[in-house]
Amino acid sequence: MGLYTRQLIASFAALSVLAVSPASLFAAVPAPVEGKNGMVVTAQHLATDVGVEVLKAGGNAVDAAVAVAYTLAVTYPTAGNIGGGGFMTLRMADGRTDFLDFREKAPLAATKTMYLDDKGEIVPRASLDGYLAVGTPGTVKGLELAREKYGSKDRATLMAPAIALARDGFTLTQGDASILAGGAKRLAKDPEAAKIFLKSDGTPYGEGEVLKQPDLARVLGEISAKGPDAFYKGFAADSIVKASEAGKGILTKADFEQYKVREFKPVECDYRGYHIISSPPPSSGGVIICEILNILEAYPLASQGYGAASTVSQMAEAMRYAYVDRNAALGDPDFVKNPLPKMLDKAYAAEIRQKIDPGKAGKSADLKPFGGKESTETTHFSILDGKGNAVSVTYTLNGSFGAGVVAPGTGILLNNEMDDFTSKPGVPNLYGLVQGEANAIAPQKTPLSSMSPTIITRDGKPFMVIGSPGGSRIITITLEAILNVVDFGMDISMAVNAPRIHHQWQPDKIFYEPYALSPDTIKLLQSMGYTLDGGNDGPVWGQAAGILVGGKSLAEIDKAGAKATGMFGAIDARAVAGSAKGY
Ligand code: DON
Repeated sequence: MGLYTRQLIASFAALSVLAVSPASLFAAVPAPVEGKNGMVVTAQHLATDVGVEVLKAGGNAVDAAVAVAYTLAVTYPTAGNIGGGGFMTLRMADGRTDFLDFREKAPLAATKTMYLDDKGEIVPRASLDGYLAVGTPGTVKGLELAREKYGSKDRATLMAPAIALARDGFTLTQGDASILAGGAKRLAKDPEAAKIFLKSDGTPYGEGEVLKQPDLARVLGEISAKGPDAFYKGFAADSIVKASEAGKGILTKADFEQYKVREFKPVECDYRGYHIISSPPPSSGGVIICEILNILEAYPLASQGYGAASTVSQMAEAMRYAYVDRNAALGDPDFVKNPLPKMLDKAYAAEIRQKIDPGKAGKSADLKPFGGKESTETTHFSILDGKGNAVSVTYTLNGSFGAGVVAPGTGILLNNEMDDFTSKPGVPNLYGLVQGEANAIAPQKTPLSSMSPTIITRDGKPFMVIGSPGGSRIITITLEAILNVVDFGMDISMAVNAPRIHHQWQPDKIFYEPYALSPDTIKLLQSMGYTLDGGNDGPVWGQAAGILVGGKSLAEIDKAGAKATGMFGAIDARAVAGSAKGY
């Protein structure tokens, strides 16, 4: 956790001891950034700048998203990618909604037991490191479909900034350098990755130094000139397949040739008059956010207050029940039947509420298995243009710098998304998720995701664009940003920065970030029977990127009424290289 985040959280703590109102808390975080004609919020400042320039040049939010995604592939190699995949949730100004699934698929030669040894035990890190961990990438086809269907600019225009940044290099800020330093050990293991991201003495590039990626510039240039075939049928695919064969992987040319982006209807639900538009399977995100919101809707969260023991208890119970469903029931919709009507039904939420005993911790052992850890190596960006087109994108290599391998000559870091599958029922993956049959490995199947790119409308107009990285915690991070705005009256900056809590059924505890809960609240929750874990186990909890329309906070929007204007963006202070920028 950066010093800044610590100071920020310390300020929250000091203020919460004084029991101040949300209004006075606003001073504790940077003010939301205001835009009149457009807003871009990403985890890397150069990508944000590129997005804003596209909007200024008359591009729409989808054009900006395509340019941002290609730029992040250059300037944010820990998660930005063309060697991975992701999701795009869109809501166009005319009310059309869409969900583009360009997530990775298991190679044709994948098998259910491919990560097990002959005794049926998991081979440690086999689904995480090297070519066997790689799923067929989807990003290039996904971005092209988005551009063709919803964009207005040509591919070369949108890719030019990324190509220039890769070819000419960019100067690393402290945040950029710290991210590279975090991956140095992993990147050193692959000669090609080391050649790109480490200096000749093996140390990572530091603040003020320039990172150039000529191979990646060449591949991006080919995609720009010839389209996705340059990636899926050309030099990139050939080189990746060759390196995969040499590196005990199973990718073939047919995997690349057969890759198809899927379009789905987003998951939609209503919460206290707000309309949530989010990610459907193969993501669990939107479904689980909606299930939790449906459960919470009957509780008076606003009057109970942010961080109150009653609020935290209700949130934890709703999360406990929803995560059990996630784990047991959800998977790639081409392979399993997802019980969405039931999971999204408010009557089902009411049934769950009946089982929740107010003031008393439930018992996960009475339900089914789950667990969890997370890291920070996915990335989310939120974009809104002046016409009201909203785009919410989360894409990823999965773990930090993915599988840690780059096929010679390509400059492309490859994902380790295969780890999101159930390698063996009952055994946790990178995020501690203990998953079931619905998410078993099969050829061309997409692993279940938690990524939750979300757009919220009110009275048929865009209200909020939100999402985050964070492994299995993506869902609760996104959920809490929504609750912070809608129930707790926080401005958008406070909403993405406020300390978070998380429960995911197993292990049966409430995780909390430092200062999320006061000592008194902790005692109250313990007296209800909860086990609490503020151990801050591992990296910070995600990096939410949010936009609110018409005011910094709900109170401001409501006060302005019909005259509410502008858009307000905020990047989580946990994103050390990120920025929000409007114009
Ligand atoms: O799709 C998923 O749910 C994971 N591959 C996301 C990974 C992630 O968020 C890592 N960074 N925090």
